[in-house]
Amino acid sequence: MRILPLIVKNLNYEINNNFILKDININTTEKKITIIAGNNGSGKSTLLKALHGLIKMPESTIKWGEFTTSEIKKNQSMVFQTPILLNRTIYENLLYVIKQKNIKDKYYVDKIIKKLNLESIMNINTKYISGGERQKVAIAMSIIGDPKIIFLDEPTSQLDPVYKNEIENIINNLASSTTKIFMTSHDISQIKRIGKEIIFLDKGKILYQNSTEKFFIQKHCDLIENYINFG
Ligand SMILES: Nc1ncnc2c1ncn2[C@@H]1O[C@H](COP(=O)(O)OP(=O)(O)OP(=O)(O)O)[C@@H](O)[C@H]1O
Ligand SMILES: [Mg+2]
Repeated sequence: MRILPLIVKNLNYEINNNFILKDININTTEKKITIIAGNNGSGKSTLLKALHGLIKMPESTIKWGEFTTSEIKKNQSMVFQTPILLNRTIYENLLYVIKQKNIKDKYYVDKIIKKLNLESIMNINTKYISGGERQKVAIAMSIIGDPKIIFLDEPTSQLDPVYKNEIENIINNLASSTTKIFMTSHDISQIKRIGKEIIFLDKGKILYQNSTEKFFIQKHCDLIENYINFG
């Protein structure tokens, strides 16, 4: 299943006559990590949800290769900005996703727990775990079943440098295999470290779209220059 190029054509989204996303056009063949950046309220989470299919758009506006968003539903997953977990242990949360995805390998949970270094807390109810641990568990859940695309909404925003490094390595490893990553981030040094392509939003519109390499050497408008200098 080829999910690239991703082509988004004239995507608009409005609520109560207010544009949240306006005339979004994307044409990308970037296989690794595409960053969606922009100030608070610029539409990053909304764009991610539209690509994920949580916010319904007319079918013709988003095409993944030959496929529509609903046709790739089973091949992708999303980690939300504030992850929602079941009121059970980490182990049971992971087991739940594995059952839902009909995965028969009985060691799968153990493998994921090991991969994400969750052994010491796997039997703790998620209501007691820290914000950073929640994000890590949510990422563990999202990689179950090897989805072709993972959407990550600020996956490291609550993490300390050690956790952040760990998660960035996981994201990088996923992207180096065959997983396409779309993630939002406010963290300029992180964008430099792992981003390959950047889509910069302002007030629901795309202000800039190119490789991150070019992004960091070009001259920009004040808004982007400030974002780079203070991010
Ligand atoms: N369901 C909704 N009803 C009304 N307004 C909404 C709704 N969803 C999003 N918005 C508005 O759309 C704008 C974009 O929201 P979005 O969550 O996509 O921003 P963001 O770029 O992810 O911001 P942040 O960096 O703070 O996470 C915001 O002004 C938000 O208040
Ligand atoms: Mg957001």
